[in-house]
Order: sequence, then C-alpha cells, then structure tokens
Amino acid sequence: MINRPLYLVAGARPNFIKLAPLIRQLQNLDDLPYWVVHTGQHYDDVMSGSFFRTLGIPVPDVNLEVGSGEQGLQTARILERFERLLIDSPPSAVVVFGDVNSTVACALAASKLQIPVFHVEAGLRSFDRTMPEEINRLITDALSDILFASEISGVFNLVREGIASQKVHLVGNIMIDSLENTLPAALARGTPSRLGLNSGNYALLTMHRPSNVDAEETLISLVEVFSEISLHLPIIFPVHPRTFQRFNELNLQKQIPDAFRLIEPLDYLDSLCLQKQARLVFTDSGGMQEETTYLDIPCITLRANTERPVTVEMGTSTLVGSDPERIWEAFQLVESGNYKHTSKIPLWDGKSAERIVAVLKEYLTTTC
Ligand code: UD1
Repeated sequence: MINRPLYLVAGARPNFIKLAPLIRQLQNLDDLPYWVVHTGQHYDDVMSGSFFRTLGIPVPDVNLEVGSGEQGLQTARILERFERLLIDSPPSAVVVFGDVNSTVACALAASKLQIPVFHVEAGLRSFDRTMPEEINRLITDALSDILFASEISGVFNLVREGIASQKVHLVGNIMIDSLENTLPAALARGTPSRLGLNSGNYALLTMHRPSNVDAEETLISLVEVFSEISLHLPIIFPVHPRTFQRFNELNLQKQIPDAFRLIEPLDYLDSLCLQKQARLVFTDSGGMQEETTYLDIPCITLRANTERPVTVEMGTSTLVGSDPERIWEAFQLVESGNYKHTSKIPLWDGKSAERIVAVLKEYLTTTC
C-alpha cells in the first residue's frame, strides 16, 4: 500500500483534457491515493472551470491560484507555491502533463526535492526554441524519472537527447482517451446548429500562439486572409483571451465580414462537436492537430513546424505557417475534394491512461 498521495498537477486548458482519463483509471484503484493540484495558471470558467465540469474532474484538492503574468513571473510563482506544498505535504511522486509553464515549474520543484517526476506527453519537439513550450518540454524531460511518449517521434527524440531508454514508455495519446470517452456527448450538443451553422459547411478557426498574434503585421495579414475565405465558407472563431486582447488593441473586430464570427472560448464538448462537423479547421493548437487527425477532418496548421509530426505524416495536418498564400492554397485544396485522409495511428486507441497507470503502479510499489 502506498501511503502518500500521488500529485496530479494541471494548470492550463490542454492539461485538463489529459488529466481526466488518468483520474478515471485511478478512481478504480483503492491502493493508489492521489490529489489533484491545480496551479491556477488558467482560472476563468471558460478556460478552466467548464473543463472540470464537462470532463468530470473532481474539485482540485489544492489550488495554488497563481493567475496570469509574464513567463518568468508565472513560472516563479508556481515554483514557489508548489515547493511549499511539497515540503508541507510530501507526495509519493508528481505527474505533470504537456508543455505549459505549470509543467516545467512543478517538475523543477519536485526534482530538486528528490521527488520522482512522471511526464505525460514526453519527447515532443518542434526544434523551435522561440516557443516557450519547447523550452518547457526540454527542461521537463531532462528532469523526469519516467517519460510517457504519445507518438514514436517522442521516443526517438528522448533517446537522441541521452535519456536512458528504460525510463521511456510509448503509451499512446491520452488526449484520444478523452476524445473517445466524450465524443457521443459532444455530438449530442448539436453545437453547429446552436450557432446557426450547417454541418460540413463552415470552417473552425483557433489561434493564440505568439507567432501568430503578437506581431501586428502578421495578425492583420491573417485576419485579411480569413476575412476573404469567410466570403466563400463561413468561419467560426472561438477567441482565446490573449488573442482577444490583441483584437481589442488593434481594433480588428470592426474590420471583418459578418461571416467571420468571433465567439467566446468553447468548452471541451462544444469544441469537439464543432471540429467533428467542420469542413476544415485552421489552428495553431497542438491538441487540435491531434483531434482533427483522429476525427479525419482537414487541419490547416498555422505553424511553421510541429512537435507532433505524426499528424502531418499520417494524419490530416498541413503546415502553412502564417503565410496567407499557403493558407489560401490549402483551403482551395480542401474545397477541390482532393485533401488527404488520416491513417490509424499506433496506440491512439483510448487505452493510454490504462498503460500509464500500470507503469506508475509498478514504479511506486517497487520504490516507495
Ligand atoms: C498556455 C500555454 C500554451 C497552451 C495554452 C492553451 C504556456 C507557456 N503556454 O498559453 O502552451 O497552448 O495555454 O490555452 O504555458 N487568461 C485569461 N483567463 C485565463 C487564463 C489566461 O484571461 O483563465 C489570459 C491572461 O490574462 C494572459 C493570457 O490569457 O494574458 C495568456 O495566458 P497564459 O497562461 O500566460 O498562457 P496562454 O497563452 O494561455
């Protein structure tokens, strides 16, 4: 019996989707106690609370309430508050997810106190260190004791970086566990018709990465090309808070056609439903590259690179960067009916959480 709880740490929207299937597995066990620790990196109902409700995640045992701030400030706040928690109530180990500031800060705090760190979604690399997430991934993986990879490229990257292969486990994509679990409920939402859209007859757009929304010139040229596309196919655009801020600063809302519609961020079920019924998706989100691949929906990825190459090589993603011409060409290809389809990706089968828990249990029972 393991006495001290395992800490499951989540802080930002994409983490919550990866956390839910693991909790479902752990709920079936009575010999592996756990606490949910929310760092509070995302705190709004639309960015956080709604995900806990729709994914059935219990109220966090601890909320560090760090809130927003510049990269360094936010990371430092998490580090300081999480270290205090680890000292006051030591866990058996810490599980971190993905690549957000909460991931790296909590891995660092735990590792310095010699508490084992397990990283879910390890090994992904864009090889682009201008992205804060890439720095977070590199540091988290270097510090982790057990690394769970979602696709084979992750295993190769880790081994190339000198991580001992016995620490690395290819378990598949835990986001697909969430997707499979919730798809029927998501489709029952009928989100397109609620928003006045016809199934298969709209494009879904999301963008929030600094590479797309921070530079004025880039953002304006993106808004122009999406305005043009919306005259051919309506676009629905749930706006991330950091993008919304930029739209306000540049007064962009007033310059776009009615068919290019901005709405609040969606909860997880509405997001899945809108993706599944879209003709195509434009996005710079990592998670949506994977969801569209699984759902076989064309994904025009607004990134110059991806840390998820399997979505390009075997899935429906095409990288177009922030280049309006390439975006337009990719849109035309979808409209021509000649766009590629997805193949079945190994281990994206809804059983990743099961595999992760088996490894966790084995590790904790032999070392604790
Ligand atoms: C973070 C992650 C990113 C992930 C994204 C998903 C890092 C470095 N980045 O980016 O990998 O794709 O989450 O959403 O961790 N804000 C709100 N309400 C909230 C949370 C944030 O209004 O609940 C605003 C903040 O004021 C801030 C902005 O959104 O200005 C950005 O939030 P932040 O947590 O810094 O990073 P994201 O850009 O969301």
